[in-house]
Amino acid sequence: MLSNRNNMMSTENTLEEAVARLRAGKLVAIPTETVYGLAADATNDLAVSAIFEMKRRPAFNPLITHVSDTAMAQRYARWNERAEALAAAFWPGPLTLVLPRREDCPLSLLVSAGGGTVALRAPDHSVTRQLLGLFDGGIAAPSANRSGRVSPTQPQHVVSEFPDEDLQVLEGGATRIGIESTVIDCCGAVPSILRPGSITDAMIRAAGIAVESYRGGADVRAPRSPGMLLSHYAPSIPLRMNVSRVGPGEALLAFGPQPLAGAVHMVNLSEQGDLAEAAANLFSAIRSLDDPAYSGIAVMRIPETGIGAAINDRLYRASVK
Ligand code: TXA
Ligand code: MG
Repeated sequence: MLSNRNNMMSTENTLEEAVARLRAGKLVAIPTETVYGLAADATNDLAVSAIFEMKRRPAFNPLITHVSDTAMAQRYARWNERAEALAAAFWPGPLTLVLPRREDCPLSLLVSAGGGTVALRAPDHSVTRQLLGLFDGGIAAPSANRSGRVSPTQPQHVVSEFPDEDLQVLEGGATRIGIESTVIDCCGAVPSILRPGSITDAMIRAAGIAVESYRGGADVRAPRSPGMLLSHYAPSIPLRMNVSRVGPGEALLAFGPQPLAGAVHMVNLSEQGDLAEAAANLFSAIRSLDDPAYSGIAVMRIPETGIGAAINDRLYRASVK
């Protein structure tokens, strides 16, 4: 376990300590296969509001509640056959289902930002699956970064986002996927993608499930998923996409075997041109290039295929000030 309070504990006590903290309304950073989350007991109003406070997140932006499985999901949401099919195909995994809250839903209204829906996901990481099993209840967790900043893919990123807060960081290594989950609205007759992620519309259709594709730019300006605001993932220096030439003083975020010449510094997302590898490296690469020593970050073109669409979505947000 990493701790920003230097209270190191033996690993066997770590999960029990995390459960005790959740029960006491305190926060724990949790590893998932996508990014690290800033977690609290999703039924505890004070604990959930502490997440908003620590992230400085606008209260109109609802949170994902993490569950162990479909049985736990059904304690909170009015389940339907679209959700059942999606969960059967992709849970545990990087897919978040937005569903109507049950009338007797015990979750804090804050996770729904006061609305009538709830976003649920069963994460695929052994540490957090164990935690969910021991806690036996929904865990609210947005990405463990200050609002508007790049999501953390390593435990060290979380510590550097929140160096002085009372926070236990559960160690789970570098995250495998590196980009946040696909968010899909399951309230209507045809599920509709609100945020692109590693589970693509093509993968969903290949599983025999009808889905409305992400509407990209249109949703960015009038987001149905309130977190899909333009200025997100913002580095402190300018970021340009699809460059064919590096400008003076720029650092290069390269992709593929032939990086552009002329950069003062370069990080390659994937020398092999592998999109999954690029996604896993994306946020730590942006973090490492976010340095006022450079005039900006120039990003080479990333193909729109597969998880490339989610990579370009996050880069687009990082490029808009
Ligand atoms: O991979 C992930 O999804 C990570 C890990 C920690 O699970 N979590 C994450 O949470 O990215 P966050 O809070 O950074 O993003 C959640 C997204 C936001 O865009 C939010 O607006 C949307 O999901 N969302 C949450 N609840 C919603 C709801 N009831 N209706 C529509 N969108 C919702
Ligand atoms: Mg986030």
